[in-house]
Amino acid sequence: MSRRLRVVQWTTGKTGSAAVRGMVGHPVLDLVGCYAYSPDKVGRDVGELCGIDPIGITSTDDIDALLALQPDCVSYMAYRPNFDHLERILESGVNVVSTMYMMAGFGYGEQATHRLRDACLRGGSSLYASGIYPGHAPMVALAASAMCSRVERLSVLESLDISGYANEQMFRAQGFDLDPDDPAAREACEASCGSFKDQIPVLANALGLRLDGVGFRVEFATANQDTDLGYMTVKKGRIAGFKGTVSGDKDGRSLIECSFVWKLGEDMTPNWPVTHGYVIELDGVPGVRVRLEPQGDHLDGTVTTAMPAVNAIPLVCAAPPGIVNLMDLPLVRAAGQFRP
Ligand SMILES: NC(=O)c1ccc[n+]([C@@H]2O[C@H](COP(=O)([O-])OP(=O)(O)OC[C@H]3O[C@@H](n4cnc5c(N)ncnc54)[C@H](OP(=O)(O)O)[C@@H]3O)[C@@H](O)[C@H]2O)c1
Repeated sequence: MSRRLRVVQWTTGKTGSAAVRGMVGHPVLDLVGCYAYSPDKVGRDVGELCGIDPIGITSTDDIDALLALQPDCVSYMAYRPNFDHLERILESGVNVVSTMYMMAGFGYGEQATHRLRDACLRGGSSLYASGIYPGHAPMVALAASAMCSRVERLSVLESLDISGYANEQMFRAQGFDLDPDDPAAREACEASCGSFKDQIPVLANALGLRLDGVGFRVEFATANQDTDLGYMTVKKGRIAGFKGTVSGDKDGRSLIECSFVWKLGEDMTPNWPVTHGYVIELDGVPGVRVRLEPQGDHLDGTVTTAMPAVNAIPLVCAAPPGIVNLMDLPLVRAAGQFRP
């Protein structure tokens, strides 16, 4: 792709702000507009909203005005999807990259998938979802599988103390700080794993494996005392950690596993060890183990979540219409960003 691409950022939360910072000075992408969900962000300079110097672009909630900018792509990173907005964007011919739960498109249910796919086909646009996990970590797993003559099991583990991500809304929706005996705790955690359920068939299809179904299992760790994180408190005896797996099952065996250990702090029982990153394991011939460890101050996850979507924009703009996943694109990479 030789011409520069015009991008509208959709919201400037934690991930969206990292996306904006990643687009300023980008070799191919020009940020031309920004949608604000929060009324108090409307009319403010996007750079200032994202913790950098002003960049001369003002946030707006006027969708017509944003589409009139004729963007090539929207970088959609809202907390929850607004399907009316997404449909309008896609059917107007604008591509979308997102960190939301739509790798195969089914993270929000079949109805949403059909609606989005139809909008893509009407508009001739593409929708691509990525992030670090789901997203990039499974892509690394597939790349590693190229070394195997036989694969017997594939697992990807995210194992983190996520308290640095500072997202009370998200953590409460996942079931943190609930009573472990409350049936809502397992339901909340499973509901927040829609992304992994969406990702399993992408991995299975990529490896030519036909699954019987997708399973879910989870254990809880409870806080040993009230834990004040600054943005929320996890009370003593309430859920402070999850250890779980979404599995792609065949013949009663769990063959593809998207696992997670998520902890808010360290003072909990049981206190599972964390590896502060991603561990990919392929059992087979040969077995392969890969550790993916973002370094330095990017451990908060926002940059590593945003950039697999941002760096895919040129490839998504060149992709055929529809919901595309990592199997439909050339290798997503930091093209043009080698700056020694
Ligand atoms: N794939 C991955 O690896 C991965 C990892 C982490 C997160 N995610 C997903 O990426 C998305 C962004 O995550 P984030 O942590 O950056 O989110 P966030 O900071 O909590 O929210 C992003 C923005 O969404 C808007 N917003 C707030 N409440 C909303 C609501 N109830 N409905 C719709 N929009 C709302 C706000 O926009 P304004 O800025 O305009 O106020 C907010 O700043 C989420 O869907 C998250 O689940 C994916």
